Amino acid sequence: MGTRMAGKGKALELRERPPHTEAKHKLLQSYLGAWFPILSKRNGRLLYYDAFAGPGRYSGGEDGSPIIALKTLITHNHAEPMADTEFLFLFNEQDKACAEHLESLLDELKAANQPWPKNMKIGVTNTNFVDLTTEVLDGLGEATLAPTFAFVDPVGIKHTPMSVIQRLTSYPKGELLVYFAHDTVVRWCGAGNIDQALTDLFGTEDYKGAAGLNGSKRSQFIHDLYKHQLHTVCDFPYIQSFAMYDDRGKRLYDLYYCTRASIGLDRMKQAMWKIAPSGDFSFRDRFAGMDVIFGAEVDTTPLRKHLLEHFNGKAETIEEIIEHVIVATPFASNHVKRATLQVMQREGLITTNQVRRGSFKDGTVVSFPGVP
Ligand SMILES: C[S@@+](CC[C@H](N)C(=O)[O-])C[C@H]1O[C@@H](n2cnc3c(N)ncnc32)[C@H](O)[C@@H]1O
Repeated sequence: MGTRMAGKGKALELRERPPHTEAKHKLLQSYLGAWFPILSKRNGRLLYYDAFAGPGRYSGGEDGSPIIALKTLITHNHAEPMADTEFLFLFNEQDKACAEHLESLLDELKAANQPWPKNMKIGVTNTNFVDLTTEVLDGLGEATLAPTFAFVDPVGIKHTPMSVIQRLTSYPKGELLVYFAHDTVVRWCGAGNIDQALTDLFGTEDYKGAAGLNGSKRSQFIHDLYKHQLHTVCDFPYIQSFAMYDDRGKRLYDLYYCTRASIGLDRMKQAMWKIAPSGDFSFRDRFAGMDVIFGAEVDTTPLRKHLLEHFNGKAETIEEIIEHVIVATPFASNHVKRATLQVMQREGLITTNQVRRGSFKDGTVVSFPGVP
């Protein structure tokens, strides 16, 4: 633990950043690097809401999520075309010393990046997530929240009721990256002593169905129920979760990314594959820095098999195939052409209407001969 002084002189213990937190930050950075330019194309104003912002720094000097988000935009190589979009960054942190520490870091960041871009506005609030979110949304009345990426990253289960998540994400183009305390929920869901908190968290009492299950069945039940609630209560068609394990192999928490746009799902899946190259949508502290064990190439054998079965006897455009891969398989758009279709073409498993082999430009029709 390192000690830093918070803005008004109160000592603040910064936390160490374990490898799974670094992995979370890489996901965020990678995804925002795509979200900012994609959304800025058609929107004059975007909101990045880091609802549990933390102090902005870890004990080894590593950046926290608010600083990561700002630096991703400041250093973005598409900054110029995004200049007409107003980016609002709202950082909320309940702990006073943490909030003050964050504010002092934001001042430093602004001082180091003068002139500060006119289209980047920052607000810091020092209150709790439920109160702030309710106040902001009540204040909107009939108005609509700007397209928002909400990063909801608490510790524990008590601060993120499904009803508030639902309200926050009910606006057009709303997206969510939310922490879910998998280990805590799996352990306590049958105990009966924190049922009100669990009911609020899930927005249902159905978690009680896990009480009679053990081991991986219980874990899967809880994972799937939270996903189901985000689907049905918050009306998110596309959800991808990602599991974080500590150095003893315990599954600490899951992140659930939720969107209504398949392009968002695609970009987040690409970010997840980067830090989990074996394709299991998880990160283990034990294997941190041992990327070599996963091999350099993504194994697309399951995707080739899936496409043959799914498109058996059909001809589809490359756009339709890619869309299907994004929304109906664990793979992402960057796995389709070179690593999958080119290999299938070489093996004589598909044909296309293109003269040049290996070319899958827009409009290409790919034929999957039927299995007799
Ligand atoms: C996991 S940390 C956030 C880490 C940060 N997102 C990052 O990645 O660098 C959670 C933070 O939420 C704050 N917090 C706890 N309960 C809160 C609440 N109800 N509303 C807002 N912030 C809260 C804690 O003080 C803590 O700093």
